[in-house]
Amino acid sequence: MWYKNFPVLVDSFLFLFLIGSQLWSGNVCERYPGYKITTSRSVVVQRGLCAHVPCSFTIPSDKKLFKNVTGIWYRFSNDTGYTIASKNNPKLQTNGRFFLTGNVASGNCSYYIENPIPADMATYMFRFESGPLLFSYRDIEPYVNVTELTDRPTISTERLVDGKEVTLTCTSPGRCRNIKPQFLWTGKITITKQKNYNKTYQDGSRTFYSSITFTPTQLYHKSPLYCKVTFKQDLITLVRKSLNIEYAPSMKIIIEGVDTNDTNSVIVMEGDTITLRCIVNSNPKASIYWYKDDFVVNQTRSYQTASVLLANVTPSDAGRFQCFAGNEHGVINATVHIIYYGIPLDGFPGEASEDSFLYKYRNIILPATIVPVGLLLLLALLVFACWRKRQNKLKSAEVSDTLKK
Ligand SMILES: *[C@@H]1O[C@H](CO)[C@@H](O)[C@H](O)[C@H]1NC(C)=O
Ligand SMILES: *[C@@H]1O[C@H](CO)[C@@H](O)[C@H](O)[C@H]1NC(C)=O
Ligand SMILES: *[C@@H]1O[C@H](CO)[C@@H](O)[C@H](O)[C@H]1NC(C)=O
Ligand SMILES: *[C@@H]1O[C@H](CO)[C@@H](O)[C@H](O)[C@H]1NC(C)=O
Ligand SMILES: *[C@@H]1O[C@H](CO)[C@@H](O)[C@H](O)[C@H]1NC(C)=O
Ligand SMILES: *[C@@H]1O[C@H](CO)[C@@H](O)[C@H](O)[C@H]1NC(C)=O
Ligand SMILES: *[C@@H]1O[C@H](CO)[C@@H](O)[C@H](O)[C@H]1NC(C)=O
Ligand SMILES: *[C@@H]1O[C@H](CO)[C@@H](O)[C@H](O)[C@H]1NC(C)=O
Repeated sequence: MWYKNFPVLVDSFLFLFLIGSQLWSGNVCERYPGYKITTSRSVVVQRGLCAHVPCSFTIPSDKKLFKNVTGIWYRFSNDTGYTIASKNNPKLQTNGRFFLTGNVASGNCSYYIENPIPADMATYMFRFESGPLLFSYRDIEPYVNVTELTDRPTISTERLVDGKEVTLTCTSPGRCRNIKPQFLWTGKITITKQKNYNKTYQDGSRTFYSSITFTPTQLYHKSPLYCKVTFKQDLITLVRKSLNIEYAPSMKIIIEGVDTNDTNSVIVMEGDTITLRCIVNSNPKASIYWYKDDFVVNQTRSYQTASVLLANVTPSDAGRFQCFAGNEHGVINATVHIIYYGIPLDGFPGEASEDSFLYKYRNIILPATIVPVGLLLLLALLVFACWRKRQNKLKSAEVSDTLKK
């Protein structure tokens, strides 16, 4: 309680007396020419953080301040002023959150607030005492507003490339003197090294950093990475970064219009309509091209996909189709052989309709039948040859038998 503290009590009475004597009647500026304070009328400080507030004051030019002048910041509560911070008067106490940092003798009333509590939200007033010369500045009484912690840490924006080790740095908000934030990183990546450090400035304030080293992989593209900063148990702020990991292209070929899973070679027939799609996965976006026998072919592109349409296939559509994709991290290609099968559908045994079993599965049946049929023919030939040979042998045997008889 404030009344248990004698210096504060004395000071408060003195303070009230001064307010009464100086200000009960009218405008300060008019009544006290030469006494002027320049500072912000309102200040916002986030919990856990701090604010450096510039402030300066003047006295009439015919007066002078002693070197040992006392500067005091008061806080108003219930119409009473309490000493909050002072310079050059060890009897006056400070609350440990509000500091008078300016050199009062040279007219500097700058103050600094760190790690405020909600009760610090109040109106403040500056006053100096220099021997017989004393003055309370009432034309600006700054209002200090204490808000929730909303500033967030920031994560540096290094380029992330699959397989390339990288170091990211998280910077805590605030440049304060006494707070000591703790860092916690979370994410899917495997951190191989972490280093926490700070930079100290001339005025004693510090910025805190935490650096992590890891090797990005494509697997974690778009996964979140968090940097959490804890000032006190209940004062936490964090930032989420979605990892943009760059990687070389990979590709997948899809062939529409034929029922096959073999994208290396496809058998087509007169009148077929097929589409070759080259679907690429890469970051950043790759350039994609289809070539036919080493010449660029007509193709359409949508995001990360290039397609070639072969409508009403003719023998000239047969050939070697290749899809190439590349970005700055790599290139890749895939080849599809389009084989034209000469037998028109009508000549094909069985139903020639488009949904017939034979039509649908020709890419399996044709390669599967051509070879065995060939083998069978060969076998038949061999058998025939053997039979002829045997016949000849029998004939000659008959002849010799006849001769013997
Ligand atoms: C401040 O300095 C003045 C003259 O320099 C001196 O007269 C006065 O006693 C000093 N006051 C204190 C509190 O030291
Ligand atoms: C101000 O007065 C109210 C009631 O009048 C009291 O509850 C509160 O504690 C007082 N504040 C201070 C800082 O003394
Ligand atoms: C007033 O004091 C503060 C804190 O020491 C300092 O940062 C600022 O530069 C000073 N202002 C002037 C005008 O000297
Ligand atoms: C304090 O600041 C917050 C956010 O800027 C604002 O919403 C609120 O009204 C302010 N409070 C006062 C008393 O000025
Ligand atoms: C700031 O860094 C210095 C040197 O790296 C270290 O000695 C000091 O403990 C750090 N301060 C805090 C508050 O972590
Ligand atoms: C292609 O593969 C899928 C699944 O792997 C299978 O269901 C389908 O029957 C296959 N089609 C052909 C023509 O082999
Ligand atoms: C390329 O395809 C488009 C439509 O797909 C067509 O209008 C155009 O004539 C084709 N160009 C060539 C050279 O075949
Ligand atoms: C296509 O890719 C293969 C490896 O998959 C590579 O050996 C070949 O050189 C590539 N062809 C061209 C023309 O780049």
